[in-house]
Amino acid sequence: MKIGCDIVKNERLQNKNRRFIDLILTKKEQEEYKKKGLFYLCGRFACKEAIMKALDNTKKLTYLDLEILNKEDGSPYCVNYDNIKITISHEKEYTMAVALVEE
Ligand SMILES: CC(C)(COP(=O)(O)OP(=O)(O)OC[C@H]1O[C@@H](n2cnc3c(N)ncnc32)[C@H](O)[C@@H]1OP(=O)(O)O)[C@@H](O)C(=O)NCCC(=O)NCCS
Repeated sequence: MKIGCDIVKNERLQNKNRRFIDLILTKKEQEEYKKKGLFYLCGRFACKEAIMKALDNTKKLTYLDLEILNKEDGSPYCVNYDNIKITISHEKEYTMAVALVEE
């Protein structure tokens, strides 16, 4: 089992351009981002960084290889990777995420 975490200062991701968004968020995530805004983007970013850290990015994943959606109860999950568990928390200034990868 491997673990990774990441913390993002929310203002760092404010007013990012289209190119950045296209690099980080999948099409489905972009649909949610339109509804939910900055916190959502920060959550996806922190989560994907945490997963890459947990994997030591040996798989050479890009942000778009990972899709983080929310179940009906709000809990986040990584589409297509049952062995990756994630959790996200937002505060006004910071967002953090932890990822657990079962090998
Ligand atoms: C889940 C809960 C602990 C979130 O706590 P919070 O302090 O308000 O918010 P945080 O910033 O710490 O966490 C938000 C993140 O928690 C995650 N989350 C939301 N609901 C969750 C749940 N049921 N289980 C695990 N994680 C959850 C999401 O990833 C969310 O971030 P995202 O929307 O960007 O993906 C809180 O809403 C709660 O206790 N909910 C009870 C369960 C509930 O009401 N479910 C809704 C039924 S429809």
